Amino acid sequence: MGDMEKVRDLIEEADAVCVLTGAGISAESGIPTFRGKDGLWRKKDPTRLASIDAFMANPEEVWEFYHWRRRLISKVTYNRGHSALVELERKKQDFTLITQNVDGLHSEAGSRNLIEIHGNIWWVRCIECGERYEERDLELPPLPRCGHCGGLLRPDVVFFGESLNRELLDRCYQALTSCEVMLVIGTSSNVQPAASFSLVAKEAGASLVEINLEPTPYSRYMDYNLFGKAGDILPMLVAENIKEDN
Ligand code: OAD
Repeated sequence: MGDMEKVRDLIEEADAVCVLTGAGISAESGIPTFRGKDGLWRKKDPTRLASIDAFMANPEEVWEFYHWRRRLISKVTYNRGHSALVELERKKQDFTLITQNVDGLHSEAGSRNLIEIHGNIWWVRCIECGERYEERDLELPPLPRCGHCGGLLRPDVVFFGESLNRELLDRCYQALTSCEVMLVIGTSSNVQPAASFSLVAKEAGASLVEINLEPTPYSRYMDYNLFGKAGDILPMLVAENIKEDN
């Protein structure tokens, strides 16, 4: 039996599945990844554009980057990889999708039990009054202001130099320590704590499957490494004859 078939069986047998995704799952939608040959961080400096220090020092430059990303994301839609995960969630009793992506494509595709650990680019937060709200206007001024108090808004995403939301992390650890299978999809596993989520799941007894174009620093901890595009592999793993749990 090949690895594809083995992983299919593994997923089919499991009641509890946890998935971690990164920029690679949205690459086939046309959103550039961060690292690698054509990665965003090759051309742009993350410490200038995506760190809290940069935002406090030069919010206009950081907002310019986020306005650009919002426009880019507004032009694309979810792909077969996102849809396969929606299908998998439908078939499982216990399913949690943890994403590092801020593009909102998993919820657009229809994923429900979703934890966006790095936030969502379509939400904003006031640095004065703390109000958070969804803001999809693509024509925001260079320095958008809070609709409630007039304070400076920031994208409601996690910048470098900031901690992740404690409640969301608790939900992640709950899913990681109770799943039977964890899929790690399209992430270079360079950014903590997400990179080591797979080790938390493994320690708690889960089987690990990585889906990526190439090996990552965490590939050696995986039970299975499936090399290829998430949009090709995921639909094959979540094919029609997968067992219905409920
Ligand atoms: P990266 O850009 O670091 O990694 C993307 C991974 O996806 C790479 O390992 C690619 O090989 C893989 N990949 C590309 N296309 C793929 C495809 N079609 N199918 C499967 N895999 C594919 O992105 P992340 O690991 O998500 O953080 O980056 C993590 C965090 O670093 C991001 O959330 C962001 C960034 O700086 C913040 O902004 C806080």
